Amino acid sequence: MSEKLIAPKSDKLILRALAGETLPTPPIWMMRQAGRYLPEYRATRAQAGDFLSLCYNSELAAEVTLQPIRRYGFDASILFADILLLPQALGADLWFVTGEGPRLSTTTTADQLAALNPFDAIHDHLAPVYETVRILSRELPRETTLIGFAGAPWTVATYMIAGRGTPDQGPAHALKAENRAVFEGLIDLLTASTIEYLSAQVQAGAEVIKIFDSWAGSLQGDDFEKYAIEPARKITAELKKRHPGLPIIAFPRGAGERYVDMHAKIGADCVAIDNGVTADFAATSVQPGGCVQGNMRPDLLVTGGQELIDEAQAITCAFAKGPYIFNLGHGITPDADPENVQIMIDAVRSA
Ligand code: CP3
Repeated sequence: MSEKLIAPKSDKLILRALAGETLPTPPIWMMRQAGRYLPEYRATRAQAGDFLSLCYNSELAAEVTLQPIRRYGFDASILFADILLLPQALGADLWFVTGEGPRLSTTTTADQLAALNPFDAIHDHLAPVYETVRILSRELPRETTLIGFAGAPWTVATYMIAGRGTPDQGPAHALKAENRAVFEGLIDLLTASTIEYLSAQVQAGAEVIKIFDSWAGSLQGDDFEKYAIEPARKITAELKKRHPGLPIIAFPRGAGERYVDMHAKIGADCVAIDNGVTADFAATSVQPGGCVQGNMRPDLLVTGGQELIDEAQAITCAFAKGPYIFNLGHGITPDADPENVQIMIDAVRSA
């Protein structure tokens, strides 16, 4: 007769919040918590040579992922990589221009789409990322949750179509209007390859997955359902099928009033919200659907002072009646003061 051990409920705060528990003090992490505002990040990046070399150097990528954990003891750690590594694995050229941002070879024709690699031929290229995840799952403190991530198909497509970041995603909207077959073929390829990529991250040790749809807000009407909601829903459903119980955070940035019912629409455990909506709106209209993550303004980490403390506490209080993870509405900026991050954490924990 074998005695069955009942697995204890996780004691990791992030996993408890994602499971729907309302905690007395919310768990905390920050988008871009490993980044240029930290002197130790800049030193390690210099050691790696440049940003992409850092992403593909598993030891150093794990090192910069751990730096903010050592400094601040955040409750979650997000894999250090970039959403544009996937297009590179699909065969696009990728480079970063200092002070400007990413550049890619463009995918706007049927021939260019057909020249990309098949959705499942990405793993050799991305092997160093999976190795970073494996190192982190060994080295993180036991109370820290490891988050893996990818860009959502629409957001990644906007960079692949334009060959760079764009203020209004104009080239992607134009391709959608002019050559729907190529546009949808690209979205489908990205959806299928994102599932493979994220599934491999989970196999390597990622405990939670976050899907970044930074440009979801520029999709209007039916396009929002078709190209923001539907791909995220497919990715979430397939990942949960392959990895039962895997928690998923969706971040359809700029969704505004469309954040209402977002948990149910995507099937996500948590919805991350940006600064386009107030904490009160999200607490009333989004949090009833499940865990919410967000949404302090990143500029407060530059300006600091009493306003930082007041805002961090006001947001924490607004979300106190339901499952909640404290975070920013977007990534911390390079000009933020590292001391303000500690002030923010202390304010949240004493709210
Ligand atoms: O949050 C984290 O710390 C995890 C790592 C991470 C990075 N990028 C590292 C990074 C994550 C999750 C991303 C996501 C990402 N990358 C998004 C979606 C989220 C968002 O910010 O909207 C997007 C759109 C990208 C593409 C990208 N990468 C751009 C447009 C840029 C240039 C802009 C900039 O901030 O310089 C990057 C570069 C990048 N990705 C940096 C970091 C730390 C800065 C690179 C450097 O060190 O010089």
